[in-house]
Amino acid sequence: MDRNHINRSGPGFSRREFLKGSGAAVVVGAAATSAVEAPLEAQQPATKIISAGPHTITLNVNGENKQVTVEPRVLLIDALRNDLNLTGCKDVCDRSTCGACTVLIDGKPVYACTRFAIEVVGQKIDTAESLYSPEKTDDVVTAFCKHDAIQCGFCTPGFVMTVRGFCDQNPGASEEACRRALGGNICRCGTYDGVLKAAYDTAQIVR
Ligand code: FES
Ligand code: FES
Repeated sequence: MDRNHINRSGPGFSRREFLKGSGAAVVVGAAATSAVEAPLEAQQPATKIISAGPHTITLNVNGENKQVTVEPRVLLIDALRNDLNLTGCKDVCDRSTCGACTVLIDGKPVYACTRFAIEVVGQKIDTAESLYSPEKTDDVVTAFCKHDAIQCGFCTPGFVMTVRGFCDQNPGASEEACRRALGGNICRCGTYDGVLKAAYDTAQIVR
């Protein structure tokens, strides 16, 4: 679980570089310390312990509060797909390498297969479904269509959310910055050229 975050902190900083240096949010409370020498309070687990049974939690998804009843072991991707019927995020590798499950959490692209649903209570989750409404189609969707950045489309929701999150944080980003930002998403069909053009176009539109 050392690849929880997908970073978009700057044009010169790729997700893979961030991942190499990133600690796991889940295990922060279990940082290695000599239990023999540590003061008593430091030996107490920093994380809250909850029962393994189902818990009813509220997730803020695409601007709406949704209740789900899930065990603590349930991943965000499974809660979204199985409990909320939001199937845009795809479960492909299930081990934080492909990016097909990317959603935005508080505006940052994150692999949904690396977060427990209970971890993201209180945070703002956006899925690919948030990018379309009858009134408005998001610019990133328009750019993907314009550049034909889709073949089988299975990776596309993940790419789209990565681009949306990156461009929101890096308006006006260069093509090279866009290329680096896409480093955590894999496309078996090889649509990278179109995706890069779509990302660059989207980045030039300041919202
Ligand atoms: S399914 Fe989550 S990164 Fe591949
Ligand atoms: S379009 Fe088929 S995997 Fe990317």
